[in-house]
Amino acid sequence: MDHTQLRAQFPALEQTLDGYPLSYLDTAATSQKPKQVIEAMNKYYLQDNANVHRAAHQLSSRATTHYEAVRDQLKCFINASRREEIIFTHGTTESINMVAHGLSHKIKTGDIILVDSAAHHANIVPWQELAKRTGAIVKPVPLTNDCRLDELAFDQQLKERPAIVALSHVSNALGTRNPVERIVAKAKAAGAITLVDGAQAIAHLEVDVQQLDCDFYVFSGHKMYGPTGIGVLYGRFDQLDTLSPMVTGGEMIKTVSFESTEFNILPNRLEAGTPPIAEVIGLGEAINFISSLPTTEIQQREEELLSNLQQQLKDLGDITLYGAHEDNIGAVAFNLADEHHQDVGILLDQQGVAVRCGHHCAMPLMQSLGVKGCCRASIGIYSNQEDIERFIEALKSVKEMLL
Ligand code: ALA
Repeated sequence: MDHTQLRAQFPALEQTLDGYPLSYLDTAATSQKPKQVIEAMNKYYLQDNANVHRAAHQLSSRATTHYEAVRDQLKCFINASRREEIIFTHGTTESINMVAHGLSHKIKTGDIILVDSAAHHANIVPWQELAKRTGAIVKPVPLTNDCRLDELAFDQQLKERPAIVALSHVSNALGTRNPVERIVAKAKAAGAITLVDGAQAIAHLEVDVQQLDCDFYVFSGHKMYGPTGIGVLYGRFDQLDTLSPMVTGGEMIKTVSFESTEFNILPNRLEAGTPPIAEVIGLGEAINFISSLPTTEIQQREEELLSNLQQQLKDLGDITLYGAHEDNIGAVAFNLADEHHQDVGILLDQQGVAVRCGHHCAMPLMQSLGVKGCCRASIGIYSNQEDIERFIEALKSVKEMLL
């Protein structure tokens, strides 16, 4: 694989900031997009723009064919067993909300919902809202001192037979990886409905939902080189089929009268209104892009880059790393001495280095780390050694300025 050619597919990376070449280390927030994704979306708007499933004309028929073909692509991409198990949403957050809302009728007072202590707010707040509606109780699965999910504690919590277990595949803030296959198996054996938040995993790991055996798996297009505004809710057919729709209206119905409405079958039942058509097409192109690359080589490259990044940060001194392990995926979280993460981020930006600083939409995790926030550097398919070196050089100069 020629990495220079691969990187050249991402036009946004070819820029300077204040005279410094851009080192984009914020892929965990959103990935850059390859030209072919942008071009596919442009082509749809320039040539095919029409609504899906609604008209007899050829434009609509082309748009519908393209839209539905992406559902088939996704079925293969995550190895779902049926195309109806793929629901298009606007992103991970909406997907989790749809599940939390849709399960309301199955949850009763006192039921336990276990969530991951390192989770981002999208995998906490919808469950809290479900708990408010039903009288259920949200309990966090604790972390070990080195920021891994505490499996011993989890095993104890399973004895209470939780109704739902919702956890991340990979933590967005730290890049730590959960042993999801094992955890899902244990949760299912305890009778729980399982949801895996794959937002930070989908662009870095091969995901096989049948092998994971989870009830729901959710992710966003924009973190996997696709556009914003498009996400996926995968659900095992029997689970999805009993989910109450969160959004109702056109397209999700079979018949409507003023007396009663009959809902449509899957997948339409959970896709009310005009969907994000161009975004679905862009996501399809992102899958084409990822699928055209040698997976093992890409994964190995990312692992090497990340471990190099972790090591260079350790070598720099005055750096606290949070939950940095060898098997982490895509991201490293750190603070420079007692300096405010925001100051560090701004000074890095002035040298062309883009990292995310803040609580990373994971306030409970920050509380358990005893910090208000931290900096996070995250990599993608296009990241290279020069990005890492420029980042470390910039951080050295920030250290000289501030310490
Ligand atoms: N969830 C995104 C992040 O981790 C926004 O930055």
